[in-house]
Amino acid sequence: MLLSVVVLLVGLNVALGTEVPRGSYKVVDKKSGDTCIRADFSLTFDVKYRKQDNTTGTATFSLPPDDDIDVSGTCDPAVLNVTNPGKFSFSATFAKLAPLGRGKFWLKEVAVQYYLLPDLFPDVSSETVNKSMTETVTLDTVIFVTKYGDSYLCRKPKVVPIQNNVQLTFSDVQLQPYGLKDDKFSTAQECADDPTPLLPSLPPLPPSPPPPRHPTSGTTTSRTRRPVPCASWRG
Ligand SMILES: *[C@@H]1O[C@H](CO)[C@@H](O)[C@H](O)[C@H]1NC(C)=O
Ligand SMILES: *[C@@H]1O[C@H](CO)[C@@H](O)[C@H](O)[C@H]1NC(C)=O
Ligand SMILES: *[C@@H]1O[C@H](CO)[C@@H](O)[C@H](O)[C@H]1NC(C)=O
Repeated sequence: MLLSVVVLLVGLNVALGTEVPRGSYKVVDKKSGDTCIRADFSLTFDVKYRKQDNTTGTATFSLPPDDDIDVSGTCDPAVLNVTNPGKFSFSATFAKLAPLGRGKFWLKEVAVQYYLLPDLFPDVSSETVNKSMTETVTLDTVIFVTKYGDSYLCRKPKVVPIQNNVQLTFSDVQLQPYGLKDDKFSTAQECADDPTPLLPSLPPLPPSPPPPRHPTSGTTTSRTRRPVPCASWRG
């Protein structure tokens, strides 16, 4: 009964367009064909911009669920770039301090690029319409910090401000930039203040077929959708 109510609520959220899709973004090592970075999350952008009447508006948009997303990046340094072509993109650069394979990784730098398109930025000023904007931040607080070789896990939304006018909100995050085996996350280090899931004992998901591999092409990447198994984390 409880489960069916939850399922109904998820359906309602999707119908109302309030559910932010969760993607699984992967960077593949061009030599070995192995996934070297995997990051599962949903991401919402909040971007301030100048409107036609010179007031400041805030545009809010999320990474879409469709297969139009391009993923690129490099394994070393660990960089993940997720692009909604012609609209917006972001890239995340990870750092590690792990001599002898022991230590930590964390998110070091985030960059965003977006076009001031009228359909994403209502009433955008005619002087800036369709212009490309780029913002980069080197984070001064350490986030997603995790034991090297493990994965970072956090259900709770994590807000990353970039240069005062852009804010990224990562939700339902699990990510690992180093030491993946067979596309699978290693031991998860869960963020300290995560809420305890209300329905902790869901049956395991059926195994999914392995993703296609393209070992010959350079920045080969793939993106698959994965349903969020339990909506109650969202509170
Ligand atoms: C907006 O500001 C620009 C200069 O910054 C000015 O030329 C323009 O008249 C202003 N528009 C309005 C509607 O106030
Ligand atoms: C992500 O990659 C695309 C394609 O190479 C590039 O145009 C874009 O500027 C990159 N985005 C960021 C934020 O670096
Ligand atoms: C901005 O881009 C939109 C969609 O690509 C296009 O319809 C519009 O004409 C462009 N506006 C200007 C001023 O270039």
